[in-house]
Amino acid sequence: MKLLALPLGGRGSLLLVGCVLWQLSPAAQAVEPISLGLALAGAAASALTGIISYPKLYCYFAECCLQRPGARSGAALQENLDQKLFGQHLAKKVIVKSLAGFLNNSNPKKPLALSLHGWTGTGKNFVSKIIAESLYEGGLNSRYVHQFVSTLHFPHRQNITQYKDQLQMWIRGNVSDCARSIFIFDEMDKMHAGLIDSIKPFLDYYEELDGVSYRKAIFIFLSNAGAEKITEVALNFWRSGKRREDLSLRDLELSLSVFNNKNSGFWHSSLIDKHLIDYFIPFLPLEYKHVKMCVRVELEARGYEADEDIVMQVADEMTYFPKEERIYSDKGCKTVCTKLDFYL
Ligand SMILES: *[C@@H]1O[C@H](CO)[C@@H](O)[C@H](O)[C@H]1NC(C)=O
Ligand SMILES: *[C@@H]1O[C@H](CO)[C@@H](O)[C@H](O)[C@H]1NC(C)=O
Ligand SMILES: *[C@@H]1O[C@H](CO)[C@@H](O)[C@H](O)[C@H]1NC(C)=O
Repeated sequence: MKLLALPLGGRGSLLLVGCVLWQLSPAAQAVEPISLGLALAGAAASALTGIISYPKLYCYFAECCLQRPGARSGAALQENLDQKLFGQHLAKKVIVKSLAGFLNNSNPKKPLALSLHGWTGTGKNFVSKIIAESLYEGGLNSRYVHQFVSTLHFPHRQNITQYKDQLQMWIRGNVSDCARSIFIFDEMDKMHAGLIDSIKPFLDYYEELDGVSYRKAIFIFLSNAGAEKITEVALNFWRSGKRREDLSLRDLELSLSVFNNKNSGFWHSSLIDKHLIDYFIPFLPLEYKHVKMCVRVELEARGYEADEDIVMQVADEMTYFPKEERIYSDKGCKTVCTKLDFYL
């Protein structure tokens, strides 16, 4: 599924895409045409498979489902996160460990299901993009990576039955094609409960369903659910004078479990009850200094020196909360790119 058809070359373009991704509204993403290029690439790929029977050679010409070996994907992931994700020591640790372990396991008992929580702009989309890129050269554009945005792909309540069938068919089709497929579900908190139920079987411990094994697939869910709790914990931690980096998963686990068990429409209660989510990953609200880091990286990605004046001006322009202390950026790093356009 192609949401973005921008070139993914070196580090620079990669980052820019990240920014673009942050800014695009679902409506804007909808404009991106999917089919023709993909279909052609698919046809060419099938033709090549016929001609070239050596997998290595074949993979040299076309993207392959045989992704990089687990260890290399893990290393690429670690490096990318170290360089580009700021202020998220917990997310970084959990993601690298869980993915490296999963990819290294040739016989997993269930697919990997990660649930990323936090406010917009804290890096959830960015991280899912980096995960995709560390496994597949084409990142989000890879034919083995599928991204669904609730309000974009499943907007109408009345068509839920149709969406269910379609989604199940897509997951089945794509996993049959490539066991290591990645499925990213954005705006999980806006997704219809019935639709969530329809993906439940794929996440479970089944050896196979109708002849297809889903155990090597990766599911990533993004949502704002729990963001308030996460902020509250982080803020209390800050107020008691402790270092952010000392915040442990356990400090947050409690609040995550509290929000999970509450009734009020939390999207994945049905997934949680059955323990189908392997890791809940909190994204902390970003501070002034993290915003500055985002600006610096973005400046460098655009080929400029990191001019500290500009860095400060952009960071100063963001709004911060709570009102008195002004510690956390309202929008995380989300509007950094547009603000930067103004100064360059
Ligand atoms: C991968 O698995 C092997 C054993 O199967 C283990 O020795 C190695 O440390 C693992 N590597 C990672 C990155 O988990
Ligand atoms: C929703 O379903 C109705 C009939 O069930 C159909 O006429 C309509 O085209 C569908 N809408 C979308 C957006 O698929
Ligand atoms: C794979 O998923 C995409 C949506 O991301 C869908 O358009 C496509 O038809 C699916 N492929 C198969 C073989 O089901």
